[in-house]
Amino acid sequence: MVFFGQIYGQSLKSPNGNLEMEFSLSQAGEPTYLLNFKQQNVIKSSKLGFQIKNDSISLKDAFVVVDTKESSFDQSWVPVWGEVNSIRNHYNELLVKLKQQGTQREINIRFRLFDDGLGFRYEFPEQDHLIYFVIAEELTEFAMTGDHTAFWLPGDYDTQEYNYTKSKLSEIRGKMDSAITPISSQTPFSPTGVQTSLMLTTREGLYINLHEAALINYSTMHLNLDDKTMVFQSWLTPDANGDKGHVQAPFNTPWRTVIVSDDARDILDSKITLNLNEPSKIENTDWIKPMKYIGVWWELITGKSSWAYTNDFPSIQLGKTDYSSAKPNGTHGANTAHVKSYIDFAAEHGFDGVLVEGWNQGWEDWYGNSKDYVFDFVSSYPDFDVKEIQEYAKQKGVEMIMHHETSGSIRNYERHMDAAYQFMKDHGYNSVKSGYVGDILPRGEYHYSQWVVNHYQYALEKAAEYEIMINAHEAVRPTGISRTYPNLIANESARGTEYQAFGGSKANHVTVLPFTRLIGGPMDYTPGIFEMDISKLNPNNNSHVNSTIANQLALYLTMYSPLQMAADLPENYMRFPEAFQFIKDVAIDWDESIYLEAEPGEYVTVARKAKGTSDWFIGNVNGYDSRKTSLKLDFLEPGETYTARIYEDAKDAHYKENPQAINIRSVQVKKNSKLKLRSAPGGGFAISIIKN
Ligand code: NOJ
Ligand code: CA
Repeated sequence: MVFFGQIYGQSLKSPNGNLEMEFSLSQAGEPTYLLNFKQQNVIKSSKLGFQIKNDSISLKDAFVVVDTKESSFDQSWVPVWGEVNSIRNHYNELLVKLKQQGTQREINIRFRLFDDGLGFRYEFPEQDHLIYFVIAEELTEFAMTGDHTAFWLPGDYDTQEYNYTKSKLSEIRGKMDSAITPISSQTPFSPTGVQTSLMLTTREGLYINLHEAALINYSTMHLNLDDKTMVFQSWLTPDANGDKGHVQAPFNTPWRTVIVSDDARDILDSKITLNLNEPSKIENTDWIKPMKYIGVWWELITGKSSWAYTNDFPSIQLGKTDYSSAKPNGTHGANTAHVKSYIDFAAEHGFDGVLVEGWNQGWEDWYGNSKDYVFDFVSSYPDFDVKEIQEYAKQKGVEMIMHHETSGSIRNYERHMDAAYQFMKDHGYNSVKSGYVGDILPRGEYHYSQWVVNHYQYALEKAAEYEIMINAHEAVRPTGISRTYPNLIANESARGTEYQAFGGSKANHVTVLPFTRLIGGPMDYTPGIFEMDISKLNPNNNSHVNSTIANQLALYLTMYSPLQMAADLPENYMRFPEAFQFIKDVAIDWDESIYLEAEPGEYVTVARKAKGTSDWFIGNVNGYDSRKTSLKLDFLEPGETYTARIYEDAKDAHYKENPQAINIRSVQVKKNSKLKLRSAPGGGFAISIIKN
């Protein structure tokens, strides 16, 4: 098939025919693609290609089609943990083999068209005329059909810890400055640069999500908008030299993804990102387990207690500084007695794990000075008795969760990694929360550049060798790699609950995250805050948590993760034992998930069936407008009765004025029942439905 103005054209349909894409070559031999959904254009004709460093001939035109191959795939696979117990991977594929006239260079482009979106990647086969090369820029375009509404984060080489801005594409430039709030390491790059996963809605009622899958050995993709033409172009993260990627053929890039539907729920339900990743490379996965945990953490974040052991030392040199002579500051959170009280609380209330931060030497002086050797990950403070805690936790049936803050000094972390992981295994730790606060060392590298992406991958693969699960904070946002390495049980890589103690987040933030950050994988969002007035914990911190208690409970459903924290202090849970019961009851691994209602920025309601049981849990998070809904429970088994325990915002609840007002009630329900519910501004509801 050849279309007007083109020298080549070929189209492909998704299995159900709703999506159709066309690949073509322009008269100049430029590869392009376009995408339609139910006959409506989603992506206009968009160019594909690369600019190679120090090369006058770019890889963007003068191509001819050497061969094409169509195929279909339809198989289901079983995730180690997940929202559902089986995932169908069903697509039609078009592989286009291209050769550049003159240079004889070869590129293949592989398109996979699913019923809910498109994935495509570049493949550089082994060849004589293109072996090693440096990418100056990837030239992939996503040409929008209009001035859509976007939920965007400032494009940044180092962080995603921003609030989302909702605006027309044409308004991004004008709103960029105010969207860039201060963060400990940040490098915005363009007045119209935004991050993926990017969520868009159109006037015609389409929902479009742009992201990437399987980001391995490549630099992170951002998008830069030409706001005259409404064309996004890929913008890769440079390294310290300004280069955007070092490639050796044969090589495949990550997949570029476009998820699309006329129903917002389908975006949340999409499994494209996971399906475009390779199957698990870990054979025995028995050691990988979902976990619900508490931790010596919120007291540190709020400033109620400290990571540091002493105030005696303005700077630390590990191995030289003598902690044994230092005066304890009296606020150190990670002391043995205090940690034991957390272990007791975890054991009493059925939590799997306890995270302890600030257990190791070096926190007196841990970031901001471009310091290489901040931590060694094995030397504990004098008041943290590793052995005693190990034995106590074991006796109580609780797992300790390790904490490795790297301060962005990744070479130092790699230098100590084997010893650090071995130390964990020797002391009963099977999972680690790692962190990358501050600018990356080696200097000049960014959190999202190729070399640093390779570090996160190295840490993940090495952890798998030690049978260790990873929850990495400040690392690159996930791209479905947890299919291949299911020991990546969570990431932060977005603005998490900690910001509620640093001045607050937008009250509808949690209605956007499922459409953006969670497209790539689970988030360690750390929900469960019951005391919204942070000055009650620390009189010097006037932050307010912009959320109701019911909203906090709902997050255990709406922010899908196999790793869930109950982040507030034990004493705050004891003030609200009835509401706390939901956190104790809620499951963390699922057989089924049904998105009941969704609109980005407004609300998300999901029902999930707990793995291996007949119990259901429902969560709703709500944005700025109060909202009434009526939920049909037609997913329940026919002929059965259930007890539904409803945790709902009280009539006068409000994320700011009255965040703790919650009504808790029980009703009997069946398959044909309807539940009438109300969510306050910044509120929501949570429901457990247990078979009688
Ligand atoms: C930032 C992380 O997001 C937070 O959870 C952690 O407590 C601090 N870094 C210290 O590592
Ligand atoms: Ca963080």
